[in-house]
Amino acid sequence: MLKALVVFGTRPEAIKMCPLVLELAHTEGIESRVCVTGQHRSMLDQVLDIFKVKADYDLEVMRPNQSVNTITTSVLEKMEAPLAEFKPDVVLVHGDTTTSMASALAAFYQQIPVGHVEAGLRTYNRYSPFPEEMNRKLITALATYQFAPTEGNRLALERESITEHVYVTGNTVIDSFQYTIQNDYRFKEPALAGHDFSTRTILMTAHRRENLGLPLENICNAVVALAAQHPDVSFIYPVHLNPAVRETVFSILGGKERITLCDPIDVEDMHNAIGRSYLVLTDSGGMQEEAPHLGKPVLVMRTETERPEAVEAGTARVIGVEKDGIISAVQELLTNQALYQKMSTATNPYGDGHASERIVAILKGLIKKDSV
Ligand code: UD1
Ligand code: UDP
Repeated sequence: MLKALVVFGTRPEAIKMCPLVLELAHTEGIESRVCVTGQHRSMLDQVLDIFKVKADYDLEVMRPNQSVNTITTSVLEKMEAPLAEFKPDVVLVHGDTTTSMASALAAFYQQIPVGHVEAGLRTYNRYSPFPEEMNRKLITALATYQFAPTEGNRLALERESITEHVYVTGNTVIDSFQYTIQNDYRFKEPALAGHDFSTRTILMTAHRRENLGLPLENICNAVVALAAQHPDVSFIYPVHLNPAVRETVFSILGGKERITLCDPIDVEDMHNAIGRSYLVLTDSGGMQEEAPHLGKPVLVMRTETERPEAVEAGTARVIGVEKDGIISAVQELLTNQALYQKMSTATNPYGDGHASERIVAILKGLIKKDSV
């Protein structure tokens, strides 16, 4: 029997790890447990509820206005107990959050092999996204098994001389759609339930640490200008719970006509809202993968992306964080129908919805309890 401990703590990790948790749970020969760090509290619990996943261990690390230092030290310290109690053969972590980096380090310190789901993403700018680019490089170094979503991610690892136990699996975010997307979906969030999606709707999110302050102000000011210039277009912005994000967003966008602000929506609402929107405007990582799958253009409010596949496929554009650049990129998609058609019909490069099955099959084939 292989013992696998799945560790995650934030909303995006949960969305991408729950399909894997469910796959592990019904696989013979594997005993799995879920450890949530609670780096996010309500945004994490929203996801667990949707997937009906129960945590076996909850480290409850979230503090108001937490720093990456405190997340790191709390996770490192609190991971000792589940590792000692469950004694996993492998610890599975996801992506690039501080939860993932610290839990991978905690496993390494116990000489427990780490499997990195969503391995090999890079911007090659150590400060953007911050601290995620460094987190993911550290996790690469700590991990034994690298589950790369795309061939491009595998090549990125190869360039760093990581060639052993690297597997191209697709991205588990595509697996998550089978749990969330419904044609006759009824929204739970009142702001969405009452919204007329037959008018052109721009669904937006922005939360990244490197965009806090002036870049986020630029983003909000661009949205104010766009809403004023396009009376037939509306914006929906579920606002991240980070107080630093909320202060800026509510002070600039609060009370503005055709700009709806609401609390974070659950992932069912989100996936179905993307599917009904005209385009997605975001600095999120995950939404760069989701929008292409749902046939929606995505404009990325960052200076670079670790997800060039969607740009190469033609569904995403990196538009920076300057007000004028954001305005002109959105305007182009609102007025140039040929461009809009081209961006909304490109194929999704992130997988076929079977990434979790592949990861579980690889784990079963690779890890024999007696040999680790
Ligand atoms: C974290 C990840 C980032 C990921 C993002 C997803 C790190 C360093 N960053 O950034 O990679 O893109 O999650 O959203 O790991 N808060 C709540 N309730 C919640 C969640 C957050 O109140 O349910 C507030 C807390 O005050 C917290 C703040 O948001 O201090 C920021 O959360 P934190 O996890 O530190 O950073 P994120 O910006 O969310
Ligand atoms: N998401 C959600 N509700 C929201 C905003 C985002 O369910 O109000 C989902 C989104 O669909 C994607 C993930 O959360 O799956 C992205 O999370 P986030 O942008 O916080 O993090 P990132 O992907 O940038 O790491």
